[in-house]
Amino acid sequence: MKKKNKTTRRDMIKKGMLGAAVIATSPVLGSEASLAGESNQRAMNSLLSGKTAFITGGARGIGLAIAEEMAQAGANIVLFDIASGQIPHVGYAVATESDLQSAKAKIEALNVKCLAIKGDVRKLDELKNAMQRTVSTFGSLDIVVANAGVTQAGSIEEFSPEEVSVVYDINVSGVIKTTQVAAPIMKQQSSGRIIFISSALGRMGNELFPIYASSKWAVIGFAKSAALTYGKDNIMCNVVSPGLVRTKLADNPYILSKMMPNDPAPTFNRVSEMLKPGNPINVGHLEPTDVAKATLFFATDATAKVTGEVFDISYGSTARNIG
Ligand SMILES: NC(=O)c1ccc[n+]([C@@H]2O[C@H](COP(=O)([O-])OP(=O)(O)OC[C@H]3O[C@@H](n4cnc5c(N)ncnc54)[C@H](O)[C@@H]3O)[C@@H](O)[C@H]2O)c1
Repeated sequence: MKKKNKTTRRDMIKKGMLGAAVIATSPVLGSEASLAGESNQRAMNSLLSGKTAFITGGARGIGLAIAEEMAQAGANIVLFDIASGQIPHVGYAVATESDLQSAKAKIEALNVKCLAIKGDVRKLDELKNAMQRTVSTFGSLDIVVANAGVTQAGSIEEFSPEEVSVVYDINVSGVIKTTQVAAPIMKQQSSGRIIFISSALGRMGNELFPIYASSKWAVIGFAKSAALTYGKDNIMCNVVSPGLVRTKLADNPYILSKMMPNDPAPTFNRVSEMLKPGNPINVGHLEPTDVAKATLFFATDATAKVTGEVFDISYGSTARNIG
């Protein structure tokens, strides 16, 4: 007798039981493939639906890519950025107000809501106002990405006290303040995710980025302490540590000339080519979306019971590290 209710390939596709990769490579499926594509897209869109993600340094670069990734997963977004163009004692331009406004428009084009708030992670009251506004607008603060950061390059004795302080005030104190403001709200909700953006330079020493590297080690030490502190409150605290990423933090004349001092016109691509052979997968840099995808992982159900972890996305370079 013929078996009834046999699950066909079409049923499997409708239920999203077949992976997109299988479907994409099948020569015969045609409209079935587009059905599957839609179903995978729907699943993706609902990963974070109803959630609110607050991203510091969200006006451009990695922060904006994370915002776009989370918006595609259905979250409403708050972009919190200094958007001042310049920061005293930082050697390159940060995001501008127009960057912040165009980032907001990009997020809204993804059919979610977005608040763009100009503010400085060094200022507790600006973070407080922004997070309170987030809760009163969207009803919750589910995900915070402590991403805002600045860099500098040179040898240890080169840096003035002000140049040392600005990196520590933003990269370390800024992350601590972001957490101090987010945690009480998340405790009240009995849930939350805080994702910290460190760096591959937070996993090793580096003579060209000595102050920056130490600030990124501090981010990991703090994130692990936050994971221990807030585990009982169901707040998961994890770290993403990227290698070199194509953003304006690295792709600017000040940093490029420090990285390639003998090159009269250094470019980001040439730096990437220079780094490539030293890395196990022959890749010299990442794009912001590579970092965003890893960050999204720490906001989803897949990591509901994961805290205190560091996710290295550094084209294998950290395989050389001890521990
Ligand atoms: N680009 C890289 O190679 C790389 C590698 C590893 C880690 N990171 C880290 O990723 C994070 C994002 O960097 P990016 O590469 O996207 O750089 P970026 O300069 O493009 O973006 C950083 C954003 O933070 C904002 N910002 C700076 N100071 C701020 C402050 N005090 N308050 C609020 N906002 C502030 C800037 O305006 C900018 O929009 C940083 O923490 C950085 O250290 C970058």
